[in-house]
Amino acid sequence: MRAFDIIAKKRDSKELSKEEIEFFIDGYTKGEVTDYQASALLMAIYLNGFNEEETVNLTMAMIKSGDVVDLSEINGIKVDKHSTGGVGDKTSLILVPMVAAAGGKVAKLSGRGLGHTGGTLDKLEAIPNFDINVTKENFIDFVNKSGLVIAGQTQNIVPADKKLYALRDVTATIDSIPLIAASIMSKKIASGSDAILLDVKYGDGAFMKTKEDAEKLAEAMVSIGKGLNRNTSAAITLNGEPLGYAIGNALEIQEVIEVLSDRGPEDLRELCLRLGAQMLKLSNIESDVNKARGILEEVLKNGKALEKLKELVVNQGGDVSVIENKDLFTISEVVHEVKAKEEGYVYELNAEKVGIASLLAGAGRETKDDDIDYGAGIILSKKMGSYVNKGDLLATIYTSDINRIEKAEEMLLSAYTISNEKPAKADIIYKIIE
Ligand code: URA
Repeated sequence: MRAFDIIAKKRDSKELSKEEIEFFIDGYTKGEVTDYQASALLMAIYLNGFNEEETVNLTMAMIKSGDVVDLSEINGIKVDKHSTGGVGDKTSLILVPMVAAAGGKVAKLSGRGLGHTGGTLDKLEAIPNFDINVTKENFIDFVNKSGLVIAGQTQNIVPADKKLYALRDVTATIDSIPLIAASIMSKKIASGSDAILLDVKYGDGAFMKTKEDAEKLAEAMVSIGKGLNRNTSAAITLNGEPLGYAIGNALEIQEVIEVLSDRGPEDLRELCLRLGAQMLKLSNIESDVNKARGILEEVLKNGKALEKLKELVVNQGGDVSVIENKDLFTISEVVHEVKAKEEGYVYELNAEKVGIASLLAGAGRETKDDDIDYGAGIILSKKMGSYVNKGDLLATIYTSDINRIEKAEEMLLSAYTISNEKPAKADIIYKIIE
């Protein structure tokens, strides 16, 4: 077999066999297939597509390139959740304790922030001493004992994806549905869970800008899950504006505590209840999603979900006093109010721009070696549909560096579109594919 012939076959829109895909991915991971050959194949896939079977075979070949986490020592169905990334998306930090409080088992490997979107690990590290490096034994123990763990990846999971993703990034082949689907699903499946809930976001702040594309991606991922015997569902959710009001690490944890205390922003709470109900269904805890939602409402009301967050923090060495009293979080001391320059309805609030403004305030990394200012970020006061008068408070910027204010404010103001027209209210979940 030769890489050359495989590239030529896909160039001519022919179907690749399982063996050909495996040969190529294995060779590329080992360095036997070159970057320029892999670039050519990626572009051929981008232009001519992959059918369902090829996409499943690509996912399998990518999984085989590294380790697969063995969670067999955890009793019961292990459920995982993946979001394609949004701004202000702290749903994992709410869902994991909520589902664990309802009897679910969640063994979660999370990532760091990417570009303008935040990452669960960075948010957790805003909790003093919280350790995302968990030994294999503790990882299993915490889930068996408490029903939950959230850690960084230690094993060598899907090295093929690391190489391919970096190559896609510089060869204009990122936004190909089979390539995204195989990239995400290979990592989820290699992480060892039995069931997977995908939150596929669409809108300004998301990878997929339209719900049609998000639906295609969701269908591709559900079909990979099915092909590889993982019970998989996908919710297609709107991320036109940020979720909740807080963007930035410590600020978002404070909002998580609010939701787990049965308060908090309605959009965030609603999304978590609906995604959580799907996770309980996938876990075989409750097959009727309305009843599952009722169970979750109860664990919010009776405090059990918040207790689970505390358990997570204690297990992983974090300072639980900040969870008990969220005012103990260190929030950056330079505070700047951003005021409306005109009156009207907030017609649009561009999540991507709010995410960049938060990054400019210091809450994210502009290069991969940057330090994060955990107390930096943005609290929105006005979201889509609100009426504002000139001079009303739109949002507040928190930073440790006064020199960051000007650019962050400029970006934040550009995120708001004020109009005489009131925007239509869209449901946060467009569709669930099971
Ligand atoms: N996230 C991933 O992990 N992979 C992609 O290809 C796109 C988003």
